Amino acid sequence: MKAIVQNGYGSPDVLSLKDVAKPEPTAKEVLVRVVATSVNAGDLFTVKGHPFVVRLTVGFPRPKDHILGWDVAGIVESVGSGVSRFSPGDEVYGATDAAFAEFALGEETLFEAKPRDISFEAAAAIPTAAITALQRLRDGGKIKRGQRILVLGASGGVGSLAVQVARSYGCEVDGVCSARKREMVRSLGAAHVYAYDEEGFTGSNARYDLILDNTGRNSFAELKTVLADDGVILPNSGHGGMSYVMRAFIKAPFDRRIATMKIADLTKGDLAVINELYEKGWIKPHIDRTFSLAQTPQALEYLDQGHVQGKIVITM
Ligand SMILES: NC(=O)c1ccc[n+]([C@@H]2O[C@H](COP(=O)([O-])OP(=O)(O)OC[C@H]3O[C@@H](n4cnc5c(N)ncnc54)[C@H](OP(=O)(O)O)[C@@H]3O)[C@@H](O)[C@H]2O)c1
Repeated sequence: MKAIVQNGYGSPDVLSLKDVAKPEPTAKEVLVRVVATSVNAGDLFTVKGHPFVVRLTVGFPRPKDHILGWDVAGIVESVGSGVSRFSPGDEVYGATDAAFAEFALGEETLFEAKPRDISFEAAAAIPTAAITALQRLRDGGKIKRGQRILVLGASGGVGSLAVQVARSYGCEVDGVCSARKREMVRSLGAAHVYAYDEEGFTGSNARYDLILDNTGRNSFAELKTVLADDGVILPNSGHGGMSYVMRAFIKAPFDRRIATMKIADLTKGDLAVINELYEKGWIKPHIDRTFSLAQTPQALEYLDQGHVQGKIVITM
């Protein structure tokens, strides 16, 4: 099968399209013929080998034919003997490993049946970003009905889904993005949108119960100017670099207003929760651009420019 493989760290040109062995499902696994996948910030960090700890899991001193990608929407090709939820021909979506390929493997618990009314492209845009948004708000922030939520980077992959997930909890949600994306963020259901390149949010009189920070561009002191007394900042940015991550980790244990930064756990079964939100009409992914599998390096370069609107999708 064709797959995008990584054999070094650096810019996306360390990636190449190559023929690799088609995987075989073990007893509890499902093999999916990938129709669409999407790119996430974590793919970019893996390509760059930054932060350094990535290299310990992906390959040291360099990776060997490592296949990137998490999000998958496609058709079940074959299933292991212990799989009960899916059969060949079923349309599914989920978050697994090695998704930038014609076929992807994963335990059946990582997938949900793809709703009939969503395209493969839109389904592939959901899993990792939506699960991240859900876990940060629900687990990190203990989100409650009626709260006021501020989402920084509300126009991006995680932020655009976070606005919608937070609204499903009955919260009033405001967003921060650039002026040219104001309308897009409003269309997601944000009540008020601050443009960081125009008025900004730090002079606002609003006080938020939760601030989900997907950008790492503001100091925690700046965020606290619009945080309610018992509000909580949810740090969630790799874009802010190691200094942001370190600040978040050092401050969180000593500051009840800063939650611990966590990597999303894609194995917790939360796609079922997201799927239900989709079925109830709360979630609609926004697709910025679509690339072919061979164009994956260009897709990652586009993501690296930092101005994506919603999600970037790769189709086979
Ligand atoms: N916890 C986890 O496991 C996990 C999982 C996935 C992602 N993440 C993190 O989530 C973050 C967001 O990921 P993403 O995929 O949503 O990124 P993305 O798609 O690149 O979106 C970033 C968005 O932020 C906007 N932006 C840039 N500077 C801003 C500022 N100063 N204020 C407000 N908005 C600004 C950009 O739009 P403009 O054109 O408007 O600038 C862009 O739409 C990343 O840093 C990533 O590391 C964490």
